[in-house]
Amino acid sequence: MDLLFVCLGNICRSPTAEAVMSALVADAGLDGEIRCDSAGTGGWHVGDLPDRRARDEARRHGIEMTHRGWQVRTSADLERFDLVLAMDHSNLADLRRMAPAGWDDARISLLRSFDPVAGDDEVPDPYYGDADEFAEVFAICQTACRGLLEHLRPHLGSGPGR
Ligand code: 4NP
Repeated sequence: MDLLFVCLGNICRSPTAEAVMSALVADAGLDGEIRCDSAGTGGWHVGDLPDRRARDEARRHGIEMTHRGWQVRTSADLERFDLVLAMDHSNLADLRRMAPAGWDDARISLLRSFDPVAGDDEVPDPYYGDADEFAEVFAICQTACRGLLEHLRPHLGSGPGR
């Protein structure tokens, strides 16, 4: 199963969610079953490492972030993913506009919809914030990604082509 986490810049929220989910997947021994990537709807940080503050926060949790930014621009960029996780409503709307033909709406969802208590809350953009905002984003991603992993478990090994 291929997951894509998407935010605006692909240097703060989505690479954090990707790194958090990858760590959860590895801890669960599911590396061979679930692959994670992230991208931005904007192109300003294509090729860049995640924001230093995001990398510092992840490192505090024993995670080294090595992702390089890329921009999701067309339906072709989404096609190879089974599930696309948007960080906020604006990302969600942008992604649904570029959804490949025939895709169910649920294939592009808000990440926090998998957090049992968050409802339709967003992952807040920490770019203009400080280290506290980055710590909050990391914690939000942990809770939501734990919920996402539990949601996916029953579907593993039974998807299309598997
Ligand atoms: P992100 O945060 O979407 O969580 O990666 C941002 C990073 C950069 C910009 C905006 C948001 N920017 O405008 O460059």
